[in-house]
Amino acid sequence: MDLEKLAQQAKTSISLIEESSGLEQWRIQYLGRKSALSLFFNSLAQLSPEEKKHLGGKANKIHKELVLLYKNKKEEIEKNIFKKKDSFLDITQPGEKQILGHLHPLTLTAREIISSFEKMGFSIIEGPEIETEYYNFDALNIPEDHPAREMWDTLWIKPKTIKEKSRLLLRTHTSPMQMRYMEKHQPPFRIIVPGKCFRYEATDASHEIQFFQIEGLMVGENITLANFKAVINELMKNIFQQEVEVRFRPSYFPFVAPGVEVDIRLKNGDWLEIMGAGMVHPELFKKAGYKNNQWQGFAFGLGIERIAMIKYKINDIRLFFNSDIRFLEQF
Ligand code: DAH
Repeated sequence: MDLEKLAQQAKTSISLIEESSGLEQWRIQYLGRKSALSLFFNSLAQLSPEEKKHLGGKANKIHKELVLLYKNKKEEIEKNIFKKKDSFLDITQPGEKQILGHLHPLTLTAREIISSFEKMGFSIIEGPEIETEYYNFDALNIPEDHPAREMWDTLWIKPKTIKEKSRLLLRTHTSPMQMRYMEKHQPPFRIIVPGKCFRYEATDASHEIQFFQIEGLMVGENITLANFKAVINELMKNIFQQEVEVRFRPSYFPFVAPGVEVDIRLKNGDWLEIMGAGMVHPELFKKAGYKNNQWQGFAFGLGIERIAMIKYKINDIRLFFNSDIRFLEQF
């Protein structure tokens, strides 16, 4: 075996290598377990002591040389990777920012409102978006010929058969759950009903065909509007993280007596209307089957969009629903 020739060959071929895959092949060929050099080391035992000493030493020297050549070449290739202009990997480059999704501003607002009510001991109830005419209107003291029905422009659902007793509609408010709940539960209780509502209306900056409400109902023996005001004060403090002025204005809804409209005012701001409310009309308790006159309670219907618009200073309700990423990214 011509050790000199082998060394020469190895040196020549490594000088031509530019990439790590070529270098790995070279390593296997000249330094690997089956390389000529390794096989030569394995065969040393068969030689005479003289030859062993002489050739063994020589082979060792060559092996060391080749290992050094390999190390140097490896470093050189690694350095060059970062020098090449069209380099495929620059481990010093900052990572790309991952864009994460997040909650919609209305979801954020709804969750804050709900969690505030939860802290005050209210239970969270849900109801159907497709409602019957009875629960959406009649049960709430709004019979068909009542002019107050015009307060709720309604999307009706075409009946499948003429015989259907109660016509179906997309609920125009969350108030139908008042009766659905009272029919099945005895006071005292306090509940809220968050949900989507629908109205057959032209849209503008403050009206949408769909929107979210949170209905509230608290019934007990001595519940008054003073309790209601305390609840709303607490809710406003939680949501806006500051003292908020709250005022009631007389208003009319067929299912409450007296009825009020609730306005709030933040520091240095204007009065803004956020919900309708009132003391539950005795007629509803009668319809629910409550026998003696021992219960009273308050009810309210809070617009989630309204609160979100005040909180985030948004001037057009339609922004919530048109999925413009430039708007949504701000939350
Ligand atoms: N349901 C009413 C609406 O959507 C809001 C409302 C007013 C709800 C008075 C109530 C209430 O519970 O007592 O216009």
